[in-house]
Amino acid sequence: MTASTPPIGESPTDRSAGSSAGLVVLISGRGSNLQAIINAVRAGRLPAEIRAVIGNEHGAPGLARARTAGVPTHVISHRDFSTRDQFEQALIDRIDPYSPRLVVLAGFMRILGKSFIDHYAGRLLNIHPSLLPAFPGLHTHARALQSGVKYHGASVHFVTPDVDGGPVIIQASVPVRPDDTPEILAERVLQEEHRIYPLAIRWFIENRLSIRDGKVLLDGQLRPEQGLPSTGSAATIS
Ligand code: GRF
Repeated sequence: MTASTPPIGESPTDRSAGSSAGLVVLISGRGSNLQAIINAVRAGRLPAEIRAVIGNEHGAPGLARARTAGVPTHVISHRDFSTRDQFEQALIDRIDPYSPRLVVLAGFMRILGKSFIDHYAGRLLNIHPSLLPAFPGLHTHARALQSGVKYHGASVHFVTPDVDGGPVIIQASVPVRPDDTPEILAERVLQEEHRIYPLAIRWFIENRLSIRDGKVLLDGQLRPEQGLPSTGSAATIS
């Protein structure tokens, strides 16, 4: 995704083009970002229809959140497949009948392979709890504390085969305080995650995003917040 592209987000398979856009959300655990998306849809802040939630862990609390919201749920456990390709094909076979315009990874804790990512190229989003490119991978809050950074945060990005390396749509930063523990810092970051993920999804649905030279543009403009933050304040664009 390095070339200039027209607005992304339009899928020929979207069965509700012109009305609310279909989402399929993939989770592994708690599902608080899923809840933020559900809440945004309910509040009319996100013109989307969550068509299904798919978990890879039977006990994932996020599945109960989805059921409470009346969203169909499925579990596809990676443990039931001998190869990653088979697992990912099973995911695709479950996702595609819902014809989502966008597939949303919300705390989905499996690294996805190239063929899965290519299948949803340009319509697969992830949220990562750091100010990418800083701290890709796991244990981001502890690593941020250890490194002594003054600001930490979260990033929503397009997924590419480069793990946690796809083009960033929006970031939000929070200050790191001297008495922070990883848990306290994680909670501060999480509040921002819940704000920026529905916003990024909305931008996508509204066809306001494009990519030029590997950078995401909003309404054709590069936003200052997409670089590493200098103020610690979160993005305010709506
Ligand atoms: C979030 O911190 C998200 O950034 C990361 O996994 C966590 C998921 O939390 N990818 P939740 O399941 O959405 O509560």
